[in-house]
Amino acid sequence: MCGIVGAVCERDVYAILIEGLKRLEYRGYDSAGLSLLNNGNITTQKTIGKVVDLENLFGESLPSGTVGIAHTRWATHGVPSSINSHPHTSGPISVVHNGIIENHSELRKEITEQGIKFSSNTDSEVIAHLINLNVCTSNSLREAATKALSRLDGAYAICVISTDDPGKIIGARSGSPLVVGLGIGENFMASDQMALRQVTDRFVYLEEGDVAEVTKEDFSIFNQNGVLVERDVTQINELDQSSEKGEYKHFMEKEIYEQPKAIINTLDGRLSGDDVLNNIFGLGSSEIFKKVKRIQIVACGTSLHAGRVAANWFSSISELPTQIDYASEYRYRNPHVDEDSLFVTISQSGETADTLAGLRYAKGKNYLSSLCICNVPTSSLARETDYSIFTNAGPEIGVASTKAFTTQLVALMLLALSLAKSRGRNPKLRARVVAALRALPEILLESLKLRDTIVEIAPDIATKDNALFLGRGIFYPIAKEGALKLKEISYIHAEAYPAGELKHGPLALIDEDIPVIAMAPDSEIAEKLVSNLEEVKARGGILYVFSDPSISMEIESGKLIKMPKCDFLLTPIIYTIPLQILSYEVALLRGTDIDQPRNLAKSVTVE
Ligand code: M6R
Repeated sequence: MCGIVGAVCERDVYAILIEGLKRLEYRGYDSAGLSLLNNGNITTQKTIGKVVDLENLFGESLPSGTVGIAHTRWATHGVPSSINSHPHTSGPISVVHNGIIENHSELRKEITEQGIKFSSNTDSEVIAHLINLNVCTSNSLREAATKALSRLDGAYAICVISTDDPGKIIGARSGSPLVVGLGIGENFMASDQMALRQVTDRFVYLEEGDVAEVTKEDFSIFNQNGVLVERDVTQINELDQSSEKGEYKHFMEKEIYEQPKAIINTLDGRLSGDDVLNNIFGLGSSEIFKKVKRIQIVACGTSLHAGRVAANWFSSISELPTQIDYASEYRYRNPHVDEDSLFVTISQSGETADTLAGLRYAKGKNYLSSLCICNVPTSSLARETDYSIFTNAGPEIGVASTKAFTTQLVALMLLALSLAKSRGRNPKLRARVVAALRALPEILLESLKLRDTIVEIAPDIATKDNALFLGRGIFYPIAKEGALKLKEISYIHAEAYPAGELKHGPLALIDEDIPVIAMAPDSEIAEKLVSNLEEVKARGGILYVFSDPSISMEIESGKLIKMPKCDFLLTPIIYTIPLQILSYEVALLRGTDIDQPRNLAKSVTVE
């Protein structure tokens, strides 16, 4: 959620830090700050607001400093304010921190009793003071930091600089990601390699408990036992176009239009003839899948909705039962794990704290194996899971998940097919679905052409305070996704219901002030759905129905929008597109901050 950047160079690092923060800003954005080490002094500047507000503090005169750390914050402990912004300082020490220190209250009490005054209300400030308190009994900044870290409960990624030990940055991670970026005669640190793509394409990913010491010429990494270790250097080859909006007004808009290409990338190298290739989830996965008797899915937000759609596919294609949980709930319900259950996590970022905690909890249970559907191959989730498939959607910057969702659905369909193949189930159905997957990107392009129609209905919805989304069966999770998207970026309250549930309560809400958005594909319960929608009409409701061309319905108030034809099993993917566009157009009319909606962060790395 928050973002960290650090740099140690021959040249001034200010511009590198600012550019890095801007690239991370989508993760958290209520305040920002930086510390620069210059001629043995540290200068720290912090402000509430965005990175541009931090830049404005400096005006035209760019500050000097060849070592620096910077942070963009999404408040967890202590309100957004310049005092609570990072870096936090103590004596010669300056620290930036991502994560949450759970025992901060007792540490604060202990530190205060030693006569030290706190300047902020954050949990993070204890780290600066603890390191400072350990300086006099340590031989180096790294030793002082390591001693301090041993006192912390919770999650952290930190970067530390000190006037006593200039020319280096100490970084450490436990529960929050941190990466070392390697330059020539200069090195960097960041909570996400994306922050450093303008300066390097070579990275070393720290593992849990690692402490790194980085100078401009060199770096060394010590594991959780303090032993000097070698970690692989990863070269990132993909072209970095992620930070450019190009012809688009917002990243969300760009990412909506990237979906046909993103899905081609998800499918690339994973199909052969009329079936899925073996072992696309990793070597040995096809063998393991033969044994699977049950699936447990754990995810959050949009990723959870993808899992809910997939549960239907696992049942109908792979003939397997699925249990699905919010990641934040899963480990607190004392789950019973049946023999030969496969534990599946779904996450765009692969850094969502609850999903990661779910995986770590599951590792202590008797699962057959773990598998993740993820967009970031270098993420913690990907590294800690037995088997994985990457959605290859490219970086998603908009907080509202779009291409990550549809590519997750495609990857989950590949999982349903792979499980069915290993278990010898439904070969004809598999061939049908594979053909439909190959045709999907073209149909998605058709779906995107609905934008003009959606632009016409957006003003009706933009003026309302509430909206209701309806779908049945496999479309109920899509209704939930549509509602999430609308509330997230337009701040309109939106709810989703299975249409058959209306008469059990929500029908009481229906009047001309609550638009009802429904999905009516050509399914075996299409007629029943139409009856549910007639109930809405009869009560004066305004209906916007995305429907299969075969469905006929008279709509006087609202609109019937015909969707392109597609294999029923893949219709959830096609029908998602107009819901994304609708929320985007409504948010545009309401003038909200579409890519960085209030109170939210792209990657939720705290529980
Ligand atoms: O990175 P993840 O997929 O694990 O993120 C999970 C949710 O935080 C995320 O899907 C969130 O709900 C989206 N912002 C919704 O658009």
